[in-house]
Amino acid sequence: MPEGINIDNSLDKERKYQLLIPQIFALIHGENDVIANMANICAALKYGMDFFWVGFYLIGPGKSDEHELILGPFQGPVACTRIRFGKGVCGLSWKEKRVVVVNNVDEFPGHIACNEASKSEIVLPVYNSKQEIFAILDVDSDRLAAFDEIDVKYLGELAKAIEEKMLKV
Ligand code: SME
Repeated sequence: MPEGINIDNSLDKERKYQLLIPQIFALIHGENDVIANMANICAALKYGMDFFWVGFYLIGPGKSDEHELILGPFQGPVACTRIRFGKGVCGLSWKEKRVVVVNNVDEFPGHIACNEASKSEIVLPVYNSKQEIFAILDVDSDRLAAFDEIDVKYLGELAKAIEEKMLKV
């Protein structure tokens, strides 16, 4: 059975990631169910990094322009369940196939506010074994400009770990 995630909250962000990522890899080791791994990754990030909101949006069925992102495993306040292609921060990341960091959501045109406490955000595309985007990892902070290249690096490692798991599915 997985043990709890133990991270000293007084550490700086990079040190917390450096201690947390190996614990997450151990948590998902041997489990190939992507939803179960996403659920545990969200819990580990929420409590290990003290994020306001962290979750995955999964691409639903249909053609790309009819597709929607559908809320998947997450930790934090209740959230919007569906996001259209190209809409919001998540939909832009999906459409442009890139990481998006938003320092102030109020200055992001078309930002979708699932919770008014959310002030900054980072979203990363997650790819399947065919190198197609199948999910978006979304992290919100209740502080402005909470995300930077450190988050891009370490959250990118987690997105890559899910991709590698998808190779085994
Ligand atoms: N803010 C996101 C919507 C998802 S909530 O943050 C959980 C967006 O604009 O796509």
